Amino acid sequence: MYQLKRVVISLVALGLPSVSALAFPGAVGFGSIATGGTTPFVVTSLADSGTGTFRDAVSESGRNITFAVSGYIVLESPVSLSSDITINGQTAPSPGIGVMGREVSASSKTNIIIRGLRMRQGSLETDDGKSAFNMGDASNIILDHCSVAYGVFDSVDAVGAVNVTVSNSIIALPIGQQFGAHLETGPATWYANLWVSAHNRQPLTKANTQYINNVVYNYQAGYTVANTGGVFSHDIINNYFITGPSTTSPSDDYFQIDDNQSAFASGNLLDSNKDGVLNGVAANTIGSAIILSKPWASTSLSIATLTAAEAYASVIANVGASPRDEVDTFIVSTVESLGKVGSIITNQDSTGLSNNGYGTL
Ligand SMILES: *[C@@H]1O[C@H](CO)[C@@H](O)[C@H](O)[C@H]1NC(C)=O
Ligand SMILES: *[C@@H]1O[C@H](CO)[C@@H](O)[C@H](O)[C@H]1NC(C)=O
Ligand SMILES: *[C@@H]1O[C@H](CO)[C@@H](O)[C@H](O)[C@H]1NC(C)=O
Repeated sequence: MYQLKRVVISLVALGLPSVSALAFPGAVGFGSIATGGTTPFVVTSLADSGTGTFRDAVSESGRNITFAVSGYIVLESPVSLSSDITINGQTAPSPGIGVMGREVSASSKTNIIIRGLRMRQGSLETDDGKSAFNMGDASNIILDHCSVAYGVFDSVDAVGAVNVTVSNSIIALPIGQQFGAHLETGPATWYANLWVSAHNRQPLTKANTQYINNVVYNYQAGYTVANTGGVFSHDIINNYFITGPSTTSPSDDYFQIDDNQSAFASGNLLDSNKDGVLNGVAANTIGSAIILSKPWASTSLSIATLTAAEAYASVIANVGASPRDEVDTFIVSTVESLGKVGSIITNQDSTGLSNNGYGTL
């Protein structure tokens, strides 16, 4: 009994989540405590609303949602998720499942797992205050292997969000404010994501943050805190920043980070020569942040198993919803040009992809 107690106490002291509490095998970071829903519900229709639709599926809490249909769901209004749900986009038959045209919102909800979902807001959106994915004031939420593109306000809006993970996901080609993600409150974990062709906010994080194994391509500003007050800690480990045709100042890989911030930075690389070859150099000066000699978060070093170069290869191979569709193939191919190709856009149509730039699934 005494022995058992000792073991439990030491796990808690290390900050390790117990195995049974993981959202799914391999889940990492602060959102990995999400447990989602358990009541099976199958999406059987690509219609915007009605029985068996995605909108119907997420309308009640407690559901563990799978998909018997594949393709795009054209949203005619925002979709509001319930608490305590799991969206298993990866269960859709090939070529997978996506939503387009409006915001998916988990605003003020809790305990949500979303995997394998494509969210492509785009110019069909009629409200320029909406984002591709909104988790404002949400808690205990994890997005994994999702593909977010053509966001209007932000790609991911997470102001007031607590216990968040976004992992293995594409956050690319925002078209309105041309912003990636905006998170406040936290704590938050951004792991192995691919951020492509945004003006800023990759992410903007006013929170204690883990930022590990991300690849940021063709940025105008990368990781930012915005110098607008707030005292936070940042573990920034083994990320790869790569400039592209739209990058105006390579040194804006870290942007507006004042001396109210503390950062542990290690193994980050910046490839700023646009020569089509991956050959970055060390980039571990995080603005004016106070240097931490060890991570603020107990799990950061164990999450950071890949070097920046290994993370680049892994992200290129695995990031986003699977199978990779026309939009994600286009996005990844711009990154693989390593400086030669990429632009920050105002309308998805300008990608030249089918279906007015939304591509087809
Ligand atoms: C939810 O559904 C997925 C896909 O069928 C399954 O793998 C998972 O075990 C289910 N989770 C729960 C908690 O029921
Ligand atoms: C966030 O996670 C911690 C455990 O890591 C938990 O104690 C806390 O209650 C969670 N916050 C919310 C709002 O659920
Ligand atoms: C640092 O934080 C303090 C208090 O939150 C604030 O008054 C000050 O302006 C901040 N400094 C900077 C450089 O942002």
